[in-house]
Amino acid sequence: MSSQDIPEENLPAEQDNAHGGVGVVDEKNPFADPGLPPHEHRVQDIDERAAKRSERAVAFLFTVSMLATIGFIAAYVTIPADKSIFVFPLGHISALNFALGLTLGAALFCIGAGAVHWARTLMSDVEVADDRHAIEASPEVREKVFSDFRQGAKESAIGRRKLIRTTLFGALTLVPLSGVVLLRDLGPLPEDKLRHTLWAKGKLLVNMNTNEPLRPSDVAVGSLTFAKPESLEEHDEDFQNEIAKSALMIVRIQPGNIKDKRELEWSHEGIVAYSKICTHVGCPISLYEQQTHHVLCPCHQSTFDLSDGARVIFGPAGHALPQLRIGVNDEGYLEALGDFEEPVGPAFWERG
Ligand code: FES
Repeated sequence: MSSQDIPEENLPAEQDNAHGGVGVVDEKNPFADPGLPPHEHRVQDIDERAAKRSERAVAFLFTVSMLATIGFIAAYVTIPADKSIFVFPLGHISALNFALGLTLGAALFCIGAGAVHWARTLMSDVEVADDRHAIEASPEVREKVFSDFRQGAKESAIGRRKLIRTTLFGALTLVPLSGVVLLRDLGPLPEDKLRHTLWAKGKLLVNMNTNEPLRPSDVAVGSLTFAKPESLEEHDEDFQNEIAKSALMIVRIQPGNIKDKRELEWSHEGIVAYSKICTHVGCPISLYEQQTHHVLCPCHQSTFDLSDGARVIFGPAGHALPQLRIGVNDEGYLEALGDFEEPVGPAFWERG
């Protein structure tokens, strides 16, 4: 149905449009602005029953969006991450990913489709044209913006069509919940796991290359040896996490050259054990200058003096490398005398 089919008295009053206006053909000037074509009323403009049908359709889409969001949350909570399903033509895919994608897609699509249907059928479709003007808005223009906004709000009928308004607010309120539940994927909080390592009293220091427990005679002056706790094996499920906290650098320094008193007390005959994990952002340290006893982190060149409590002498690292207190057991092997007394790695760990 178009406005031509509607009796004149049933048509809504034309809105006053200062800038638009129906074009009039100027036969003397072929380049004249033809203006806008005459406005045609839609069926919803003149038939309240059709308008109600459109309103229900929009509300239906917003309601489906709400249900889809609830489905998203339910799928996230109930579907196991390792469950797979066959979906033609995709083949076997993760059931959880499929359900999350489907429900979130439906939730967003229905909000968009509802808004489009609302705009196309119920909001005013009177075309307006505006002339180009200076970027700076005059007080009159600002006033016009506000009045247009008020007019738009009135024409959208958001105040009058309570069903649309309620379901729209419901859909927009629920959609962000999808993002909130996904925060759960950030995993459990580390709690105090970063504060402890596998080192404990009596744990043997094992050479990372040979996988043999270290004796003091294995560590020569000037050499750099990497060690891990006994019983930590590469095939262990948590190997990467544990070695990232427990890896040690072992060096032997003439006791007379050790400047830090605590370092000397925690060493064994000049053999000192320090965390291999840089205190800047956690790179493994591997460069040792035997003349100066400096170790250098290859990532951002932080340099630590192993003869002086591993204090930082250069670079961005915020604090010294943690030292592990070591001794020798009855069988002559190097052993830990406890865990590190401070968290290893980047400084932010100890501020948590
Ligand atoms: S991680 Fe070592 S200096 Fe940046």
